[in-house]
Amino acid sequence: MYRQFLSFLLLLGLFNGCATPEPKEKPLGQLVDESLEFATQHSLLMAESLKDQPDRLPQTIDKEGKLVTCNSAWWVSGFFPGVLWYLYENTPTDTLKDWATNYTMRVEDQKYTTDNHDVGFMIFCSFGNAYRLTGDTLYRDVIRTASNSLITRFNPTIGCIRSWDYAPWSAKWQYPVIIDNMMNLEMLEWASKAFDDTIYSHVAETHANTTLKNHFRDDFSSYHVVSYDTISGQPEKKNTAQGYSDDSAWARGQGWGLYGYTMMYRETGNEAYLKQAENIADFILNNPNLPEDKIPYWDFDAPDIPNAKRDASAGAIICSALIELSQYVSAEKSKAYLSVAEMQLRSLSSPAYQANLGENGNFILEHSVGHMPNGTEVDVPLTYADYYYVEALLRMKKLLNK
Ligand code: GLY
Repeated sequence: MYRQFLSFLLLLGLFNGCATPEPKEKPLGQLVDESLEFATQHSLLMAESLKDQPDRLPQTIDKEGKLVTCNSAWWVSGFFPGVLWYLYENTPTDTLKDWATNYTMRVEDQKYTTDNHDVGFMIFCSFGNAYRLTGDTLYRDVIRTASNSLITRFNPTIGCIRSWDYAPWSAKWQYPVIIDNMMNLEMLEWASKAFDDTIYSHVAETHANTTLKNHFRDDFSSYHVVSYDTISGQPEKKNTAQGYSDDSAWARGQGWGLYGYTMMYRETGNEAYLKQAENIADFILNNPNLPEDKIPYWDFDAPDIPNAKRDASAGAIICSALIELSQYVSAEKSKAYLSVAEMQLRSLSSPAYQANLGENGNFILEHSVGHMPNGTEVDVPLTYADYYYVEALLRMKKLLNK
């Protein structure tokens, strides 16, 4: 009887054309929901772990796998509060709201930051999401102060917000502007509308226009740092700080540019920004060094590709930007961008990048690169990788539910 049953099963397999059916891919909606739930579990553990250190925020892990934290002044301070707000948006529980509020308030003193450009990252990822989801005017006031701080760094002769002041960069560059700075413009565009004052959008759009002119190469890859001559207002040097070389395409920088011009198109409707975002997307998606799982090496021109380290943070930023950009382009391009974004979400949500619960310092993703030339934060979790990954999951969820 048993032998007969086995023969029956075998016949059934042959009849179907194969003995072992291919495993089916999980439906994308299910993958997104499960990943958001998993991200929530990680993030609640993270929030608990720092409850007795009220001035610390998650940054990365050390060589022993121990959580490394920062104070509010480090540029990544706003990302974990932002993760908590996104997760609260997905599942509005009191616990998530309390933690999101708690971690947001840890960053408040940065509204007075005038010695670097990162005030946009720090305040808008935290307070921006807080205001968007609660409407509490306390958050709005903080964003106004922060926006006033940020525009003090604008030089009209150059047409850009200065990124960094401090050593060693102050010795090398007269007026460094990094591609990352595009990300700080979202807060200014928001402030302009919220406070009905074009000073903020004037600064943001002038900065975006100057960057469009000077930061990009003919193939639409970008330099990391462009330094300007403070007398003539013209570029004096085009270099890198975190990429492989001055002429290479540092992966996260390409992500910042893509995200930045997509966001600027959303905020202004200026077609030049949309065109730029599409050109950057094409550079990334057609790059022969973009791996099959669509998570970039830390630099598209890293000399040791295919053994170079991946940068999950760049993958997450690009993924989130592509989901948004897919809504502004032709049907053909939209399909192509969404297909890559889906592959990126599937990769990042797989065991290849996603950490086990209770490991990885309670960060969600592994395998990012912070500063390869310095040898710091190489192949580690980074709080901003988690932020843009969770943002991308939510963006995809909203798109699927449209
Ligand atoms: N904004 C600094 C970085 O992307 O590492």
